[in-house]
Amino acid sequence: MPTKKPRLSLIAGNWKMFKTLDEARALATAVTIGQSDLGPAPRLRIGLFPPAVSLSDVARAVRAVEEKARSGTDRAPIWVGAQNIHFEDEGAFTGEVSARMVLSAGGQAVILGHSERRQCFFEHDDEVGKKVERAVRSGLTPLLCVGETLAERDGGLTTSVVARQLAAGIAVLREAADLSRVVIAYEPVWAIGTGRNATPEEAEEVHRFLRSELGRAFESRGAAPERCEEALILYGGSVKPDNAKDLLSQPNVDGALVGGASLKAESFLKICAAAVPTQS
Ligand code: 13P
Repeated sequence: MPTKKPRLSLIAGNWKMFKTLDEARALATAVTIGQSDLGPAPRLRIGLFPPAVSLSDVARAVRAVEEKARSGTDRAPIWVGAQNIHFEDEGAFTGEVSARMVLSAGGQAVILGHSERRQCFFEHDDEVGKKVERAVRSGLTPLLCVGETLAERDGGLTTSVVARQLAAGIAVLREAADLSRVVIAYEPVWAIGTGRNATPEEAEEVHRFLRSELGRAFESRGAAPERCEEALILYGGSVKPDNAKDLLSQPNVDGALVGGASLKAESFLKICAAAVPTQS
């Protein structure tokens, strides 16, 4: 197997619509305390994506533990983020949350274009692209999700679907510097919440394809296509402690976007631990 490039690695927990405020605080505290046991992890980043109402408390809980633990350890920094934003800066959009609100609550990142938002809330490609642009302009790191349904995979459409979603998601970013701020998450819809993860080889094949598409995107923005080697491409869909290591050891899999297994500190930290040895 080709050696893994020394990129950063990100293990992100998408808590979806789970956890009350107290539960969210407790989980954030447990993850932040527990990550001391990972040992030095200079290239690992951990992401917590709670429901919007808990974001500011989760950010505070994380910082409170980090401040106590700060003394010279190589702890993986923890990013806190939202699961969605509106593409406008502000306005009469009942029920929506803006990028600036996420930042002011202590968030640094946002999941965009998750398949549940595309399917349940009819988000389309162009809207996702506008949200990605808003996130980048505001200083939030977008995690742009792409992924095919089972019918699309069976119909041989995987690469055309993810290429379309990727292209639309980054369409408005005309500068290579903006493009380099986007994290991609490949989440095959058939693997989400089903217990049926993509095999490491299936994931690697799509990740390699996405990286080459990113190379073309950098080139079309006047940058060297090799810039795509720095991009983080996460895999999501039934990542668990027992399959994380094999998935994460693939050359183009730079981390994981974890749903169900991120709801307990113990299983989430085991997945984080699986990312540490792959960095050496
Ligand atoms: P599961 O890990 O529960 O399959 O969810 C994946 C996901 O949707 C993360 O965004």
